[in-house]
Amino acid sequence: MPISPRLGVLAAGFSSALLLAACSSNPTTSQETATTTAPADPAAPGTSASAMPTSASFGKTADGTEIQLFTLTNKNGLKASISTYGGTLTSLLVPDKDGKMSDVILGFDKAEGYLSPEFRKSNPYFGALIGRYGNRIAKGKFTIDGKEYQVGLNNNGNSLHGGTVGFNQKIWTAKPGTSADGETLTLTYLSKDGEEGYPGNLTVTVVYTLTADNALKIDYTATTDKATPVNLTNHAYFNLALGQSKDVLAHQVTIPADRYTVVDANLIPTGELKPVKGTPFDFTTPHAIGERIAQVPGGYDHNWALNQTTGQHSAATVYEPTTGRTLEVTTDEPGVQFYTGNFLDGSLKGKDGVVYGKHAGFCLETQHFPDSPNQPKFPSTILKPGQTYHTTTSYTFGVRK
Ligand code: BGC
Repeated sequence: MPISPRLGVLAAGFSSALLLAACSSNPTTSQETATTTAPADPAAPGTSASAMPTSASFGKTADGTEIQLFTLTNKNGLKASISTYGGTLTSLLVPDKDGKMSDVILGFDKAEGYLSPEFRKSNPYFGALIGRYGNRIAKGKFTIDGKEYQVGLNNNGNSLHGGTVGFNQKIWTAKPGTSADGETLTLTYLSKDGEEGYPGNLTVTVVYTLTADNALKIDYTATTDKATPVNLTNHAYFNLALGQSKDVLAHQVTIPADRYTVVDANLIPTGELKPVKGTPFDFTTPHAIGERIAQVPGGYDHNWALNQTTGQHSAATVYEPTTGRTLEVTTDEPGVQFYTGNFLDGSLKGKDGVVYGKHAGFCLETQHFPDSPNQPKFPSTILKPGQTYHTTTSYTFGVRK
């Protein structure tokens, strides 16, 4: 059984519920079995045989490195495409209430979109794997065992999503395969000691699985040779009515969280966990994103402290009324950053020429709380040598008629 990184280093004084969560190990593991794959036959809708993911060229980096795009298909015809650049989920085809498949992820058709100066400038992290530390670290500073570390600053004097060049800009080594659950893509990356200022060689494995029950499961594992903060997540922007609605304001969202982490003007937590009751942050019952967003300066870009924190639990459910599509996010993480694409400003044109304006998509980034390395009362994100970081998040798609 893998050891949770949060096992060893937990400050006293935090609520016992979160303490329990912090100590939980994650039960669901996708065992990638690429060596025993079924013969490659096309996974036509309605067939049960799991075939291998397909691959194609997606373009090249500026230094000429090949970027590949893998596409996973399940027996119901859902398709997930993932690029070796950033381990980025570039498209996800899911059915609506009439069975019509369409893409529900913001992104680009070709690698150039992710490498373009416009994209790099606004840096919305479309669909990317985020690391070594998802979300913000105040002033990019933290102390482990008495030693202070300084990591890359890229967001108002703070470090966001791994710093200047995060895992979202790395080329990952990919291995397509199948498991009992469906087609898989295993991505690995070695983040060397000192990369972006972080201590320790961090070996990271991420397994994407497109399951027979219409879930995209993402399973993250990491080990280190020096104590280091780790907080991995995925930065997919969803719009369950993509192509039909230019914003996500009509999506109805439920987040089973009674509290959220209060932040300052630069989105750094103050350390306070505040009740959502009576505020526009209360999504314990379904609310359209647009219903109260005007009361939240800038829009939603906050971390909710999930009520249930042990085992796999719900992080959010979303319903889009015109298409009938539903999304259920489950995780073993204690928090979820719900971000409503507030900084999208129409400067990026994505797949099918669609312009991505404000609130064109929303993210549900399952993770530990922001700035945990500097917040002694938050569950720890420090991974030590000999421990294994392991976390799983699933995005399950359905319809409501
Ligand atoms: C952050 C936002 C940031 C965005 C970048 C989100 O996870 O919370 O503040 O602008 O990522 O796309």
